[in-house]
Amino acid sequence: MTTQEKLALISSKIDTEMINVDNLLTILQYIDLLQTDLPIIEIGCYRGGTSSCIAEYLTETKKPQGLVVIDPFEQFIDQHPDWPTGTGNEAITRSRLEPYPQVEIIKGFSFAVPPRDASLIFLDGDHSTPAFMQDVTKWRPYAKEYFLFHDLNYEPIQKALAQLGLPAEEISHNLGKL
Ligand SMILES: C[S@@+](CC[C@H](N)C(=O)[O-])C[C@H]1O[C@@H](n2cnc3c(N)ncnc32)[C@H](O)[C@@H]1O
Repeated sequence: MTTQEKLALISSKIDTEMINVDNLLTILQYIDLLQTDLPIIEIGCYRGGTSSCIAEYLTETKKPQGLVVIDPFEQFIDQHPDWPTGTGNEAITRSRLEPYPQVEIIKGFSFAVPPRDASLIFLDGDHSTPAFMQDVTKWRPYAKEYFLFHDLNYEPIQKALAQLGLPAEEISHNLGKL
């Protein structure tokens, strides 16, 4: 698929208040590099914007990987009333992802969901320092090819990386790879 075609695919589905087009194009480039059929996991899907872009891309390019998305939806919002996510995220996500049989939606917190092997993990869940550290420690060993995460430049995440002693590579503005 050409970059123009990828852009057309993304622009109708992306939630740009959550992630920018360059980040998403970069994630799709990494999906093109995958050598295994293991699923892709997105931790923290919000309203399924990025998830639906990935699912559509997997479908259009006939890639073998499934997509697993993990989010506690309103359980997180209930605990973080200051977080501007609004309500109805679960219903919106389910409706957006309904056309894609290769997608599995897991409602839950990343720390409570049993981990599983993945080709690529995209972490974009709880951005607090302890939660990010916990997610990286738990999930990174299961990312058999790539472990990407959003908001590399966010101060609590920088702090987590420093505490973990992990140097991250910035592969697109604010998009990290470990
Ligand atoms: C920044 S948004 C995700 C944006 C989404 N990746 C996208 O590109 O559209 C963060 C999401 O993480 C979820 N979240 C918070 N803590 C989580 C956890 N422990 N496990 C999984 N998801 C979590 C929130 O409910 C929220 O929907």
